[in-house]
Amino acid sequence: METFAEFQRRRNSGFYSSKGGRIYSSFRTFAHSLKFAEANAVEFARRAPRKGKLRVYEIGVGDGKFALNFLRALRKADEKVAERTTYILWDFSEKGVELASGKLEGFDFETVAAPAWDWKKMRGATCVKCSELLDDLPTRMLVRRGMHVMEIVREGDEFREVDARVEGETALFMEGMPEGYWVPVPEIGLECILGWKGKLAPGGWIDIFDYGFADAEGMRMLPRNGWNASIWREFSGQVTVDVNFQFLKRCAGGRIEAQKDYVERALGKDLWEVDAGKLDYYSYEEVKKNWKKLEAGGYDINILLSGGESSDYLHMEISK
Ligand SMILES: C[S@@+](CC[C@H](N)C(=O)[O-])C[C@H]1O[C@@H](n2cnc3c(N)ncnc32)[C@H](O)[C@@H]1O
Repeated sequence: METFAEFQRRRNSGFYSSKGGRIYSSFRTFAHSLKFAEANAVEFARRAPRKGKLRVYEIGVGDGKFALNFLRALRKADEKVAERTTYILWDFSEKGVELASGKLEGFDFETVAAPAWDWKKMRGATCVKCSELLDDLPTRMLVRRGMHVMEIVREGDEFREVDARVEGETALFMEGMPEGYWVPVPEIGLECILGWKGKLAPGGWIDIFDYGFADAEGMRMLPRNGWNASIWREFSGQVTVDVNFQFLKRCAGGRIEAQKDYVERALGKDLWEVDAGKLDYYSYEEVKKNWKKLEAGGYDINILLSGGESSDYLHMEISK
């Protein structure tokens, strides 16, 4: 028997160590979106302290495309800020770090091959960011049954519930959760965030990009079985879990917004989130230009343009 968090940890360390570098280009994330990277660069240039060296830590770098697009966009956004910036590629996979490093020739960068929770290796961080890392980290799965909190455990190929040991914020948080719903509680994600927060330089901040939920309302709108079946998923053996931003905010503070709002605000224009083979943000003109492709991919353009498509991608920002 293993807890859900142990099950996720076992599966994901197996997933990342078995396939070497090949997996990193197969993620369907926003890491390849030029607008996403540009928004991040513009925001960084706007907020970065006016003097001194700047250190940007990216944790869980994948194939390094987000890093490369960010650094290129930063040179365009503010050359002086770019010149003062050192980019730190951080991943628990040495292969991943090596692959990402190969893309950053001509930029000032360092590498760290270590787990996300090894925050003692961090120093003077202007910005710590991650995109689709937290959904990968071992996450507790809890469920409230009356006055009791139960832990989801895996036995063979089945899940069952056993009495959970919960204390502190986790216990308080679970009191407010609807009964019978599987609730991911990212205690390890929180530990990482608090560790990183302690390593921020004055004026520094953390940017977390991931999919998940910011309040229990979405939960209550779905029947229990639907929610419980969709809160986690398996992809080629890898196990990912929707990020419980509500819990993270309650314990670490910060601010949550839709990732799309963040990109729109930074770039100063209306955008539409699309999944057209790759996840990206399209302008109105791009939606019109790719109309046929989007319809072939299952989009109703009128619904898309009227903002009727929902999205679970969120941005959380935590300042020092
Ligand atoms: C789903 S991929 C996302 C990659 C990239 N950020 C993107 O958005 O495409 C998760 C990344 O986090 C790394 N990762 C997963 N668990 C980690 C951990 N415990 N510590 C450090 N890196 C981890 C993986 O090696 C991979 O590069």
